[in-house]
Order: sequence, then C-alpha cells, then structure tokens
Amino acid sequence: MRADPPRTAGVAEDRLAAFLADETARFERENPRSKEALQRGARSYLGGVPMHWMKDWPSPFPLVAVEAQGARLTDLDGHRLDDFCLGDTGSMFGHSPAPVARAIRRQARQGLTYMLPTEATFEAGRLLNRTFGDFRWQVALTATDANRFALRVARAVTGRRKVLVFNGCYHGTVDDTMVMLENGRTRARPGLVGMVADLASKAVAVEFNDIAGVEAALATGEIAAILTEPVMTNSCMVLPEAGFHDALRTLSRRYGAVLILDETHTLSSGLGGYGRVHSLSPDILVVGKCVAGGIPTAVWGLTPDLGARFEAYNATRPAGHSGMGTTLAANPMQFACLCATLSEVMTPEAYAHMDRGAKRLANGLATVIARVGAPWHVVRVGARVEFICAPGPLRNGSEAARAHHPRLEGAVHLGLLNRGSLIAPFHNMMLVSPMTRPRQIDRLIAAFDATLTELFA
Ligand SMILES: Cc1ncc(COP(=O)(O)O)c(C=O)c1O
Repeated sequence: MRADPPRTAGVAEDRLAAFLADETARFERENPRSKEALQRGARSYLGGVPMHWMKDWPSPFPLVAVEAQGARLTDLDGHRLDDFCLGDTGSMFGHSPAPVARAIRRQARQGLTYMLPTEATFEAGRLLNRTFGDFRWQVALTATDANRFALRVARAVTGRRKVLVFNGCYHGTVDDTMVMLENGRTRARPGLVGMVADLASKAVAVEFNDIAGVEAALATGEIAAILTEPVMTNSCMVLPEAGFHDALRTLSRRYGAVLILDETHTLSSGLGGYGRVHSLSPDILVVGKCVAGGIPTAVWGLTPDLGARFEAYNATRPAGHSGMGTTLAANPMQFACLCATLSEVMTPEAYAHMDRGAKRLANGLATVIARVGAPWHVVRVGARVEFICAPGPLRNGSEAARAHHPRLEGAVHLGLLNRGSLIAPFHNMMLVSPMTRPRQIDRLIAAFDATLTELFA
C-alpha cells in the first residue's frame, strides 16, 4: 500500500514544490525590467532596498512600481495590477483620492512645514470628533509613534510600568509591545535588532479572548494600559468573542488601567472604525496609515476625562523633554489631507461600496475553498478580507501562529500576482477600496480559483 504524500494545509508537498517552481520561473520571465532596475540600484541601499520590508514580498524580487491610481498599480514591466494590498492599508481609500490630491497641490503652494497650527488644524479637529467621537487629539507621523506616545501618557497618569498586549499582536515598531507568550511566560520576540531592554519588565503578553488571563495580569496592579486592536489583524485575523471587549472595558476600569484601542487596521470596519460601529468606549483611540488618505499621519485621542488627568500630571512634571513628539509631526500638509479625507473620502457611501465589494470577495473566496475542499477559511472585517490556510475560527495568537504556512501562502501570493492581483505581503490580507471595481474583485476570485485548482489537483 502506498503512503499518502506529505501535505501542508491540505496541499501535497510535491504539488506545492512544482507550482512554486513554475510560478517563480514565470515571474522571473515576465519581470525583467524590475529585476534589472533592482540590480542596478541595489548598491546604494543597505540590503539593496531603502526599507527592508520591501524584500518580504513572496516574489523572488519586489516589483518596481511606476504609478498607482484608484485600485490599480502599474509596474516597470507594464503590468497593470489590481491592487488589493493598497500599501498595506496606507491607501485603503484608493491611491491618490482626488480630494487628497487637490489638497496636496493646494498646500504645496503654501509651505510644507511650519511648527505652527493653521485654520485647517482646527477644522481637522472638528472632523476627527465628528468621525470618531469626543476625544482630545494629538497628531503624529506614524501609528508606531502614536502608540508609543499613548503608552507614555498611560504610564504617566497611572504611575505604573507595564503594558498588557495580546500574544501575536502588532502595533508598529514599539519596543514595549514586541513580546510573546512562551509556556505561559512573557518574553521578548526573537529577532529584534539591537534590543537591550528587558521587555518582560515593561510588558505582559496574554492570549486574545482570555478574559481570566487579562484579569490575572491586571490584578498584579502593575498594568498601566491594555493596548489592543479590536480585532487581531496582524496574526491571521482573530475576531473578539462575544463579551470580550465589554470585559476589557469593565476590568480595565476596575483595576485602574488605561484602555487603548489601536484602530489602524480596523478602520476598515465602517465609518469611525470598529469601536464606533460596535459602541466601544476606549480611553485612548489610535488611528494611523490611511487616516489622511496616504500622507504619513496618525492621530491619537484621549477622552476628555483622561485628557484632564494628563493635563494635571503635565502641570506638575519638571520642565524638559517629554519624550513625545517629532519635528515634522502636525505639519500643515497633514491637516490639509486630514480635512480632505475626513470630509470627502471617508464617507458613508465609500464605506457602503467597500463593504459590498468585500462581501463579494469573501463569498467568492469561500466558494473556491469549498469547491476544492481546502481545510481553510475566510474572515472579513468590513473592507478587510483574509483567507487563512487552516480551519476556523481562530481564538488567539497561538492558534493563529499555528495556522500560518509561509511557503504555501507565498505560493498562493505568487500565483495571484502572476495572474494580475497584488495582495499584502505579510499575511493573506486583501482590502477593497472605494475605487475597487467589481470586475477587479471577480478577477482576483478567478486567480484564486486557478491557483487553488492547481495546488489541490
Ligand atoms: C494595528 C497596527 N498598529 C500600528 C501599526 C504601525 O503603523 P506604522 O507602521 O504606520 O507606524 C500597524 C502596522 O502595520 C498596525 O497594523
């Protein structure tokens, strides 16, 4: 009797290897100009590219982009790709939305950075409150910075040291959050470059959806803040179970910790983000990436109560550097683009279009998965869709880590890319923008069908 061949998430290893070899050869054959440009330019950059993540695409080398409009990206070899990566959320509302492009042109004639407010600054504040609720805002350049500053405020007002994060989370390159759970203990993640701090002295990792674990950590009295996404979007997609967010709110109040919601990715949920759609009430709200239509901007807002607590603290601290802020933050270009995005791009109509398209995409992918009999599933959070190469639902970061199959996922990504659809490199994430057309969605579903048909043949 012949033994079954080894399989990864239902795909036979020999089939996966053959598929990868074919798709890699096809990619190399069809992208000679990108390859040549990368080779020509590589000497100037550490590791060959200006940002090391550019080498994390599953293709043999990254494509060199020429331009992007709406939900279309053109590369150096002339391929017009349907873009579902959308700059990993930076362009979730489409590339260069017209109102944002107009605002950039206007502001470019009026100066780029002054370290002074403009009238648009105050209009943006009004629009932020209208969109997200009653918060007292600060503006940063990246969501990483916004989270970093929010944590400082939480530590300052509570006088406590530690942040509670969920195993498998990602909140940007914030040192304090780069921890994981291993055999029930918090430790630094492997691979951190140049790390000298003992991260376990500043953070506690708990599994998502583990209310008892959260309470046990809070009961130590050491936790200044819980920092969480409403949905874990960075290790597959892990949805909150019923009652989880209510428990976080109740427990954080009971034990005096600040509740920080990072909505950088879950802004896909609907107007105002997941928290607004689901009536959550964080103490600090963080939103980054696409909040100003693709111009580097993040906002972080404190409830009026927490704002008052921070002002009281601030009045008593000694003069000197606060450890928060960067020179170009809150520049006039950011406010011009915030106003344009919040008033003309992030509209109920745009979200309705995104939601319809994402539903069409999720249904199409799920139908393909069922047809080939893959033990996979699809998760959707508004405009954000992810296929996961394991049965679901996943409950937490540990389950999500076990559901990852990087070689297989890379093969699917490459199969899609060779057939004209670009999806996010780090996970199996696809975004539907207000500018994404139904036929682009149908092409992605067809490419997924063709790829899985080969892999599961
Ligand atoms: C939830 C979340 N927060 C924060 C960040 C950091 O964003 P940035 O890299 O723009 O600082 C990311 C990035 O992926 C994220 O997913």
